[in-house]
Amino acid sequence: MIGGSSVGGSNLGESGVGGSGLSGSSVGGADSARAGTAGEGGGAGTGATAGDGDTGGGAGRPPDASDAGSGPVYLTGLEKTDPYPAAVYPRENPYSVEKALLGKILFLEEQLSSHDTQACGTCHRPGAGGSDPRSGLSASLGAGPNGVLGDADDARGSQGIVRCDSAGHPKPDPIYALQVQVTPRKAPSALDAWFFNQLFWDGRATTSFVDPVTGVIAIESGGALESQAAGPPVSDVEMSCEGYSWTAIESKLAVAAPLKLASQIPAAMSDAISQHPSYPALFEWVYGTPEVTARRILFAIATYERLLRSDQTPWDRFNAGDSDALTPDQRAGLALFNLNARCSTCHVPPLFTDNKFHNIGAQAPNLDGGRSAISGDTADLGKMKTAGLRNVGLRAPGGLLHFGTGSGATLRSVLDVYRQGGIYHENTDPDIQSMILTDYEFEQLLEFVQNGLTDPRAAAELPPFDRPRLGSEH
Ligand code: HEC
Ligand code: HEC
Repeated sequence: MIGGSSVGGSNLGESGVGGSGLSGSSVGGADSARAGTAGEGGGAGTGATAGDGDTGGGAGRPPDASDAGSGPVYLTGLEKTDPYPAAVYPRENPYSVEKALLGKILFLEEQLSSHDTQACGTCHRPGAGGSDPRSGLSASLGAGPNGVLGDADDARGSQGIVRCDSAGHPKPDPIYALQVQVTPRKAPSALDAWFFNQLFWDGRATTSFVDPVTGVIAIESGGALESQAAGPPVSDVEMSCEGYSWTAIESKLAVAAPLKLASQIPAAMSDAISQHPSYPALFEWVYGTPEVTARRILFAIATYERLLRSDQTPWDRFNAGDSDALTPDQRAGLALFNLNARCSTCHVPPLFTDNKFHNIGAQAPNLDGGRSAISGDTADLGKMKTAGLRNVGLRAPGGLLHFGTGSGATLRSVLDVYRQGGIYHENTDPDIQSMILTDYEFEQLLEFVQNGLTDPRAAAELPPFDRPRLGSEH
């Protein structure tokens, strides 16, 4: 077990935002989830353990319920853990069906960008595990955090826009000239992201949300999704020209035809639009009055994102008692994940993250300081947020980790980093230790991570992960 409070703790003050974050949030279920992992083995008597006879991974039988409390408890790594938790909505932004649907429309709305070319959904696609399938393309290999192309910190980011000035004219970028700019890091998943107290690889989107137009704190805690969504539409790399503002977005949407550029729009979305054919009409339907404001846009987007819950993976069915939901190799892989390979120390089920920051030794930490640049603490050098592993097999083709290349290029290369206990050893987490696995066990671990954690609805982009085709999508 890692020492929970020493890493990514609530003392990491963020720029000028009231409230120090983690401690006050209602979202953090990670610790209780972890306790459940280790503690429920003996007496739970779940179907999850019933099918372990043919795992082949060396996992022994769990102790019988009648043994509980007498003698040592041997873990099998297949103990039942907490199921996928209920969503948590901030007090200031409660759920409604209509708001989530408006948020879905806005998430896929390319007119949110200054030149109608980029939606949130351009870079975050369910079929790619909530990340960007284009990251694997050569045009997505960007300059990385240091802004120099062709050196060691280059990363497989997301393609944004050609730089443009405040009058909307193309403007040569110092790095990319008149080519499309690329984000310095890979896009993490927008699915299951509701669970995090702080968002982005370095956690710079905080739990309290400040309205970007009024400057007022609109959500005290639990608003990391709203905080995060305020950034991309006015980013001069991702979506809009230099100097673009939220007030410009408000005015633009007030007269835009919703999803004008999209096609194959799912019925629920197109029905809402035909009944309320403008954004003011949609906003009146959701909020009672027609004003299109930044706060309302962001509240709706975040409400939609809180529905992106991939809770129907084979692992979820297995954990609920269907022992055949995982194949024998996947079950053996899961046991290794929890025991010998100790992945669950940080990738704590059921969300497969501990909501904290660690340096796993996959990249030289001076290339991307990660959390340390936000906290100002050198003890955080190279630490990144523990990615949730749901749907990671769908993200793999675009590259993994925050940089997506080299040791992050494939799932196999990432697991190789763990197997050898990290490649770089500067400030690497003490829980990253070389592990003794047979080659066959390594394949079982890989098989579990690749296929055991994929929600088939995300893979096939079925509800709630359905979406229209974007105008810019080729
Ligand atoms: C040009 C591509 C691009 C667009 C457009 C874009 N994103 Fe992202 N998104 C990224 C990248 C890259 C990151 C990670 C940046 C980092 O950590 O430094 C990210 C991070 C995130 C995260 C954090 C996930 C986590 O686990 O930390 C969420 C949530 C998210 N984006 C949602 C959105 C929403 C909502 C929009 C639209 C308002 C949007 N994105 C638009 C590329 C994009
Ligand atoms: C000390 C904590 C820790 C341990 C132990 C750990 N991980 Fe991770 N994992 C992380 C962090 C932090 C990241 C993000 C790192 C980055 O991007 O640089 C990550 C990222 C990943 C990713 C990439 C996810 C994505 O969406 O890009 C995979 C796959 C992964 N881990 C699998 C595993 C497996 C399998 C094990 C066990 C062999 C394991 N991890 C053990 C902390 C940990």
